[in-house]
Amino acid sequence: MRLTGAIALVTGGSSGIGAATARALAGAGARLLIAGRDPARLRAVASQTGGIALTCDLAASGGPADLAAAAQRAAATLPPAPGVGETTAGIDILVNNAGVGWAGPIGEIAAEKIAELVTVNLTAPMQLTRLLAPGMIARGRGRVVFVSSIAATGVRGEAVYSATKAGLGSFGAPVRPEKAAPPAPRTGCPGDRVLPGTRPRRVLRAALDAPARLAARRRAGNVPRARHPVRRPGLRGGSLA
Ligand SMILES: NC(=O)c1ccc[n+]([C@@H]2O[C@H](COP(=O)([O-])OP(=O)(O)OC[C@H]3O[C@@H](n4cnc5c(N)ncnc54)[C@H](OP(=O)(O)O)[C@@H]3O)[C@@H](O)[C@H]2O)c1
Repeated sequence: MRLTGAIALVTGGSSGIGAATARALAGAGARLLIAGRDPARLRAVASQTGGIALTCDLAASGGPADLAAAAQRAAATLPPAPGVGETTAGIDILVNNAGVGWAGPIGEIAAEKIAELVTVNLTAPMQLTRLLAPGMIARGRGRVVFVSSIAATGVRGEAVYSATKAGLGSFGAPVRPEKAAPPAPRTGCPGDRVLPGTRPRRVLRAALDAPARLAARRRAGNVPRARHPVRRPGLRGGSLA
């Protein structure tokens, strides 16, 4: 898909992977709508990317619908992408990135925390896709990206988080063929694609290889000190054993 001029909505764009994704998309010529809760960090990413900051709470009742409406209003203020023959601009790329993590024994997680993880990590992406994918299909181009996790396979101490990420993958798989419209004659671009999980393969490979490399260094008596604690979203500064 041509990124120059495309309008991308990145949830959780105020931090971490979302902010990096927003910067990468802006670098490729996309126009950014950046969503999150923290207005100051949103403004910082917006000024780095030339994007529009959209404050939202995806855990709140009606939060995804409010964000979809605000994003569509913001997109309508932008000029249509050059060369596609459209009179109105719409959201071309939805990056479902916002996420909340929690780690610990299952008996210790509060009921409200389970609800927050399920709502932000799973329900909000489904609602946003329901609201924004039809516009992409109608315009004959678009992408919906789901930021999943290797934890989707099930990680001890992260049962709820793992379940939400597995659910996200299960949602993305059938949506993909459903969205696979025939090639759009105006743009010539192929049908839509949904990519469950956006961690670069290089990063994923490094993460999967890390325990083996660490074990080899330990055997050689060269034990590195952790420079960056392993963390999950919502556990800023926290470290997981
Ligand atoms: N970090 C990892 O090791 C890792 C590994 C695999 C997958 N992932 C996935 O990658 C994604 C990003 O992770 P990250 O490490 O970049 O996390 P992060 O730095 O903690 O950022 C999380 C983002 O989600 C937003 N968010 C959280 N709750 C929200 C809510 N109720 N409403 C709106 N926005 C909300 C935050 O917004 P505010 O800060 O503005 O509140 C923030 O921008 C997540 O889906 C995560 O599950 C992360």
